[in-house]
Amino acid sequence: MSGTPPAPGRTTVPYHEDRSPGSGALPPRPWYAGSDAARLSLNGRWRFRLSPTVADTDTAFTAPEFDDAGWSELEVPGHWVLQGHGAPAYTNTAYPFPVDPPRVPDENPTGDHRHRFDLPPNWPGGPAVLHFGGVESCARVWLNGTELGHFKGSRSAHEFAVGPLLRPRGNVLAVRVHQWSSGSYLEDQDQWWLPGIFREVELHSRPEGAVADHFVHAGYDHTTGLGTLRVSCDPPGRVTVPSLGLDLATDESATVAVRPWTAEDPVLYDGELVTPGERIPLRIGFRTVRVADGLLQVNGRRILLRGVNRHEFDPHRGRALDRGTMRRDLLMMKRHNLNAVRTSHYPPHPAFLDLCDELGMWVVEECDLETHGFRALGWRNNPVDDPRWEPALLDRARRTVERDKNHPSVIMWSLGNECGTGQGLSAMAAWMRRRDPSRPLHYEGDPSCADTDVYSLMYADHAEVERIGRRTEEPPDDAELAARRRDLPFVLCEYGHAMGNGPGGLSEYQRLFETYPRCQGGFVWEWLDHGLHRTTPQGAEFHAYGGDFGEELHDANFVCDGLVFPDRTPSPGLTELKKVVEPVRITEGGSGDGPPRTVVIRNLHDFADLSGLAFSWAYEVDGVAHASGTLTVPDTAAGATAEVELPPVLSAPGGTRADGSYPEAWWTVRAVLAEGTAWAAAGHEVAWGQLPAPAPGDRTGPPVGPPVAPRRSGADLTLGPGVFDPATGLLTAVAGEAVHGPRLEVWRAPTDNDEAASGPSDPGPAAAWRRAGLHRMRHRTDDVALSPEALTVRTRVAAAGTDAALRVVHRWTAAAELLRLEVTVEPEGEWHVPLPRLGLRMAVAGSLGRVRWYGGGPGEGYPDSRAAARLGRWESSVDALQTPYVRPQENGARPGVRWAELTRADGTGLRIDGVPEFFLTARRWTTEELDAARHTTDLTPGERVRLHLDHAQHGLGSRSCGPGVLPRYRLTAGPARFAFTFSAVR
Ligand code: GAL
Repeated sequence: MSGTPPAPGRTTVPYHEDRSPGSGALPPRPWYAGSDAARLSLNGRWRFRLSPTVADTDTAFTAPEFDDAGWSELEVPGHWVLQGHGAPAYTNTAYPFPVDPPRVPDENPTGDHRHRFDLPPNWPGGPAVLHFGGVESCARVWLNGTELGHFKGSRSAHEFAVGPLLRPRGNVLAVRVHQWSSGSYLEDQDQWWLPGIFREVELHSRPEGAVADHFVHAGYDHTTGLGTLRVSCDPPGRVTVPSLGLDLATDESATVAVRPWTAEDPVLYDGELVTPGERIPLRIGFRTVRVADGLLQVNGRRILLRGVNRHEFDPHRGRALDRGTMRRDLLMMKRHNLNAVRTSHYPPHPAFLDLCDELGMWVVEECDLETHGFRALGWRNNPVDDPRWEPALLDRARRTVERDKNHPSVIMWSLGNECGTGQGLSAMAAWMRRRDPSRPLHYEGDPSCADTDVYSLMYADHAEVERIGRRTEEPPDDAELAARRRDLPFVLCEYGHAMGNGPGGLSEYQRLFETYPRCQGGFVWEWLDHGLHRTTPQGAEFHAYGGDFGEELHDANFVCDGLVFPDRTPSPGLTELKKVVEPVRITEGGSGDGPPRTVVIRNLHDFADLSGLAFSWAYEVDGVAHASGTLTVPDTAAGATAEVELPPVLSAPGGTRADGSYPEAWWTVRAVLAEGTAWAAAGHEVAWGQLPAPAPGDRTGPPVGPPVAPRRSGADLTLGPGVFDPATGLLTAVAGEAVHGPRLEVWRAPTDNDEAASGPSDPGPAAAWRRAGLHRMRHRTDDVALSPEALTVRTRVAAAGTDAALRVVHRWTAAAELLRLEVTVEPEGEWHVPLPRLGLRMAVAGSLGRVRWYGGGPGEGYPDSRAAARLGRWESSVDALQTPYVRPQENGARPGVRWAELTRADGTGLRIDGVPEFFLTARRWTTEELDAARHTTDLTPGERVRLHLDHAQHGLGSRSCGPGVLPRYRLTAGPARFAFTFSAVR
């Protein structure tokens, strides 16, 4: 056989371009981590040669004696494009080659791999299979010179019978991998194109009588508390579950009292399946999934999905993930109150599902299928609507279900993602229903829901979700389908697009999920930024995105839209999500005037009562705890609410703040794990709430001092601790600190959500802002006026080419050591765009590198994404205030700030008190520099610290894919008043 493609005009196409899923591979079977049958890992350093086209290759390399001394080496599992051969490429929906299914281009990078191995001395001999966990996108395989077959279906396992071909020593495995194949048309997921053998390669001994297939059926009847177990198996054998006293023949069923499996309490019973040739450990979770009464139910209860979409990705290794990374992902998810994963958009490494069983996650497992690139072509020639592709589609469905059917965590199968509609999908659904009637089916792409059991949408806005919750949404045309769909539960398979700074509006979605039983939650898009780790020639590290590898077609940083950064540090979006989806809601109780005397604890778990949590309270004055204790909360069932008394009013030192205002008092109530779990230690915080508390008794403080009058002395204009430029009225120093005067600022470096266009007629907020000139506002000083009490500076702030402006009055006053600024803003002319921000911008010395503040923290927060901002005293360096979004953009604002101190190493510096509370941002570069940067390494610290004291910010929204900023979070140009007091920190 040769790898040469047929000449043009030939009617047959070569194997990698035919529509078949392949030939020669064994039928799929369940994956399990191990058994008593021997396994040999073939991972490691392999020999490798890359050819730019298929035509350049012949099959001489498959001969065992072939001399590969001149070849390079490659790590398997891995992707050759991440190991110095060729380059990765990113497209969202477009196929990176001409669309002519099933044909692919001549330029088809082809990687030939060779691996020589010996069998261990104790290798049992007899039947064995060669196991490939995943190869992108088409592989042809030879062992010891004999061809085994070829396969497509990148994220499915494929196995070949190899027993008779094996020798004790000097086996040579040869694998030819084509980057492009007919299979590529079915794998148009929004991610990097990363060819290679990216999952493990193993040899499995399959002794006579070993398990060819087994299916664990373990249901739970919530009305009786009994679980029913039946394990079917080929060949027959016995099943034991010692802790349940079970010893059964396969296919025999037994019903016993059990604790059910749920994502909240993932009880697994250890068992064993024994056939004449093999003993397989089983981990059995009893649970029953059903769609009944219009709800998705597990063990008889509606569940609420607090989910994320998870792609497999690592910034160094691409989709070749190790188990440690999988476990870390899951631990982070659990610790952030997440309970569900959609395996977008392909079966994950199966070990991930073992971990989901063990740690507790509801999993929607998706087949490796997406044909999104056909949408731009009006879905012409869409493979899912062409019977010739049906074997390939069915093969993908089969390989998904057969490999992973024994996982209790998998509660739904998903046909695929964004394939439009077609008979191929129906054929997959029919097969899946027959094979596994125990799990509902999901697919988002067909609004009629003809083949599915749940109604699913992506990125529906809040209003649409509310209509669906009320069952008043626009129905599909067909009356029968409309009636059927109206009775289905609803999930958002994608929402809250986490690209860059955002998403905003998560709390509002959660409120809908908690209000309407039909709305059963969803999966935020997505878990992780897929930025690839790179180093500049100067040695600075950064994460690369689409276009950084010379791709002729690409979708830039749309691949970086996750809740965690590529290196898996949480982004503020994850912290926000954790707070929003918390399974216990802590709010103020009581009614009427005055601070609350009770706290309301709502148990939002689906199954668990509150006995696993310990509650505590703290009484804090301006962020300093003055008293704390434990809060006794009665055992409250899932779905129930308890109202608990707070301790009697406490006395605490009061006094006044630096600017003469009174401190505030708050209760902070926290719920932490009472005992360690498999995913977090005792004391891990699950939920919290803050409630206003009675103010401290003593509300007197030192008088601020009599007002001071402004003075002109020589070239300077002074007012108390402030020094001003007499011509511009700009502050040049305060309390001995050189500053570059606060002036009005409305521009922010647009976020990915700001930048998003939704079509030629709607280029998005950032484009509208730029058109309005908000990034090039000019300041004119109209008046610098002195009176005995105040210095008043009037300015007009406007952009070239427009008569829309902001009139600003700065009224400066001083008392003793304090310098106070009251700002009044009045728009003039017609404003057709919201403002990105409204506040003051100033520069201070770079040495003021430490920040302490009382306000929201510790992380950033924006108007529609600040649920996680906790009122308290926080401290950080200026550098650590930055959020390193892969594409630099507005970030780092701390919301609800009452006062902040910027200090240098010796502790001296500047204090700013704000009324009302403000957003504080401090960075070592300007907004213009931030706006211009494309990668984090484009930003270099300047000499000064740039401060933004914002009265308001425009919301974030989720417009990079989904709804924009909700009306209540839009920052409309309107009259505004706000004030700041500047003083020294000594
Ligand atoms: C969806 C798609 C995802 C991803 C997302 C945007 O349409 O299913 O794969 O592309 O949009 O990031």
